[in-house]
Amino acid sequence: MGKGAAFDVDKVLDQLTTTEKIGLTAGIDFWHTYPVERLGVPSIRTSDGPNGVRGTKFFNGVPSAVFPNGTGLASTFDKDLFREAGQLMAEEAKHKGAHVILGPTTNMQRGPNGGRGFESFSEDPYLAGIASAGVVGGIQDGHIAATIKHYVGNDLEHERNSSDSIITQRALREIYLEPFRLAVKYSQPKAFMTGYNKINGEHVSQSKFLIDDVLRKEWGWEGLVMSDWYGTYTSKDSLNNGLDLEMPGPARLRTSDAVGQQITSKEVHINALNDRVRNVLELVKYALDGEAAEFTGEDTKNNTEKTAELLRKIAADAIVLLKNEDDILPLKKEEKIAVFGPNAKYGAYAGGGSASLRPYYIVTPYEGVTKKLGYEPPFTVGAYAHDNLPGLAQQTINPDTGKPGLKMSFYHQPRGTEGREKFDELEIETSYHILFDYKNEKIRNNLFYADFEGEFTADDTAEYEFGVTVLGTAQIFIDDKLIVDNKDKQIQGRAFFNTGTVEVTGKVQLEKGKKYNVRVEFGSGSTRTYEQKSGVDFVGNGAIQFGVAKVIDAQEEIKKAASIAKAADKAVIFIGLNGEWESEGYDRPDLALPGHTNDLVEAIIAANPNTIVVNQSGTPVEFPWLQKVKGLIHAWFGGNELGNGIADVLFGDVNPSGKLSLSFPLKFEDNPAFLNFHTERGRVLYGEDIFVGYRFYEKLQRKVAFPFGYGLSYTSFEFSNLKSSVDESNDKLKFSVDVKNTGKLKGKEVVQFYIKKVESDVIRPIKELKGFEKIELEAGKQSTVSTEISLKDSISFFDEYQNKWSAQAGEYEVHVGSSSDDIELIEKFNVEKSHFWTGI
Ligand code: BGC
Repeated sequence: MGKGAAFDVDKVLDQLTTTEKIGLTAGIDFWHTYPVERLGVPSIRTSDGPNGVRGTKFFNGVPSAVFPNGTGLASTFDKDLFREAGQLMAEEAKHKGAHVILGPTTNMQRGPNGGRGFESFSEDPYLAGIASAGVVGGIQDGHIAATIKHYVGNDLEHERNSSDSIITQRALREIYLEPFRLAVKYSQPKAFMTGYNKINGEHVSQSKFLIDDVLRKEWGWEGLVMSDWYGTYTSKDSLNNGLDLEMPGPARLRTSDAVGQQITSKEVHINALNDRVRNVLELVKYALDGEAAEFTGEDTKNNTEKTAELLRKIAADAIVLLKNEDDILPLKKEEKIAVFGPNAKYGAYAGGGSASLRPYYIVTPYEGVTKKLGYEPPFTVGAYAHDNLPGLAQQTINPDTGKPGLKMSFYHQPRGTEGREKFDELEIETSYHILFDYKNEKIRNNLFYADFEGEFTADDTAEYEFGVTVLGTAQIFIDDKLIVDNKDKQIQGRAFFNTGTVEVTGKVQLEKGKKYNVRVEFGSGSTRTYEQKSGVDFVGNGAIQFGVAKVIDAQEEIKKAASIAKAADKAVIFIGLNGEWESEGYDRPDLALPGHTNDLVEAIIAANPNTIVVNQSGTPVEFPWLQKVKGLIHAWFGGNELGNGIADVLFGDVNPSGKLSLSFPLKFEDNPAFLNFHTERGRVLYGEDIFVGYRFYEKLQRKVAFPFGYGLSYTSFEFSNLKSSVDESNDKLKFSVDVKNTGKLKGKEVVQFYIKKVESDVIRPIKELKGFEKIELEAGKQSTVSTEISLKDSISFFDEYQNKWSAQAGEYEVHVGSSSDDIELIEKFNVEKSHFWTGI
């Protein structure tokens, strides 16, 4: 492979046998396409996506750069940063030998509790579309193919493979297809991944309407469509209707027997097969033309200062300052600061599922604050907020290397078997392992056993709780004594994409400073004792997750935290969710903060009114103590530089400029999808129609905790002199506005442009975001911000009767402000001629 090595697609197509053609329409393994070496067609590599590039291994993978999650990145509202993030993703891809990134995630957050809401960008299709286009553009600047996913209406996790999204044509066009359309219009992604779901009765991965009519014909997009993993459901319809690639391989639906028969019987036209193969070959050719073709291995050489700098900038710029009463922020280094909360030392760097990846490193919020202060501030956790117990491997020392982690030894037989044979040994640094892609030629019949061994030093004389979740069997021993038994009476839970057991725990009294030998004995997937009811079939090798935490008395611990807070000038509490609460595979049941978090926050505020709460989550949570807290920051899942990014904002080294990419409702029940956010009898009704996110709250005048587009700064801005001009013949709408930094600090502001139709014969949202620009200004300085957007994209609604977009003549308004509910300027403009349109 290498530059200039590319082949002629038509020539190759001519020379391929039917068997080879069929082969090319499916992967060969979990990440690679099918090669035809005799014709110079290599196998190319795909890799998840969307907040980093994992490489080919789930199990013990090569560490990678982890970017802030999608809703965080979108909250920067910074088009240059979207692109730069994409460019860094391309660089990472080269170091993971990947030609195709499986991202970004372009879906909408219909409801605030969607399990994968954190992955995608926004509840607003324009912001999601522009963010997708920016990231795709950056990825493809590096000549790596981007795959936008999951096309389309794949907005919840509940029964995702069969869930039928019932959506009106209007909502489908205006809300759900729109970000994909904008990404096609502005960045031409090389690939699309279809969702697992159906739309109006038809699986997207075999929908002629969605793949062929809309995407290819109407939008004129040329590229490759792949299925989500195990999301190809038929051979005939998927081939005829435009799904180019079944993933992963080896083929399940596109075996040469199955497709051969369809071809022989002319159920699948040979031209359809040729079209599919041509698209696969074009993508392989693109990869060959790129630099990525020269990379095959997976390394960590991109773990550089430059990488860290950009990740830190994105992490900080994504942060949204929600409250700052009495200018409690920024913190001053000479103040006596005390730190609390479950997320302070946890390092919630990413959401869970296929978007999770092993980071180069993690800077926790506590470490970030410590670096600023130059000393370790007083800390107590105050409350736990984990689902499963926090990582054991991060709290043990590998006896062989003396480094953090565990030694993992693989055997053919269980412990206690005479003469048992060891066949592999690894150093393990993390505590969550899906082993399905672990390969060893010595494994027979998917059956093996592994011992994880490490030394644990108790930091207190107290009771400690150990726990293990497994797909297989597992037991935990402390100094050879059985403490946790997850072997015989197993109960299936939601771990590992709904295939593992619930967590089983056990307690043991330990002494401060004493070293204990910890051993976790694992039996591979096939040793499990329960009948797997649902989920992806990982049974082969299985999966395991283990953790430990000191047992705390919740009320005592809160009291302790409050008394430490009392003695400080300011208390900073790090709270929120993590990749266990927000993950692929399941949705959140509500928006509540976990465990005793709210009690902790209330108690600390009562003890010290000078309290700042830093929340981390990818989608909204409820803040029942909102009125009482002076300082509140929303910090997302900030990638591996999260702690530095948060500390930069807390101490004012970065003036916050993030704006919420989605509304935070006051309570869960207020959200537009509340009644319909689950699959019932196979279908999920999109009952709120086009009124998603702020479109709903505004129309119903429903108060929210924080509106879409909202975010404060340590300085202040004023907008004036809004001008607009309409150029109908060239489809242009231009605005300019003067922005002045009226405060005392340099800062950035996002100018948001919303469009409103003054009178309408169809129901429409109050206003819709159709443009934004970010500007940086020194204190006291003023500048003019201009933007130019597509007229038809900004004023049209989708007319179901005509089955076309309708750009109506009449009076419109542009609303300009720094948030959806802080509109400072309004200007009218007129459109003379009505017209209908399709396409991009
Ligand atoms: C996810 C995709 C992902 C794929 C490969 C699926 O479970 O839905 O987003 O790219 O797995 O990991």
